[in-house]
Amino acid sequence: MTYVIAQPCVDVLDKACIEECPVDCIYEGDRMLYIHPDECVDCGACEPVCPVEAIYYEDDVPDEWKDYTKANVDFFNELGSPGGASKVGKVSADPPMIKELEPQAEGH
Ligand code: F3S
Ligand code: F3S
Repeated sequence: MTYVIAQPCVDVLDKACIEECPVDCIYEGDRMLYIHPDECVDCGACEPVCPVEAIYYEDDVPDEWKDYTKANVDFFNELGSPGGASKVGKVSADPPMIKELEPQAEGH
């Protein structure tokens, strides 16, 4: 299992979560951040610090955002498992469903 970042992160990218992750498995895309499903150790440290409540345990992702579980997997299709986000930096690999979203900044 893994933690998943969902829609509230899109166009917000607060990044408070990055500081909390002991294994550096939260990677930055163009419009949101993604948790590596194999590198995440399920510690839960990232979940409470996100100011927009974008992070959920895989089983607890709200129904309306279930497809973000797949988005967090698909982001790594090309990237594989680098074993650390900080050395990788920002990667322009947002899955199509994220790229195609309307701008989300309004309301935050
Ligand atoms: Fe996004 Fe929240 Fe992290 S907005 S970057 S999931 S702190
Ligand atoms: Fe990292 Fe733990 Fe979250 S391993 S992605 S801080 S659940």
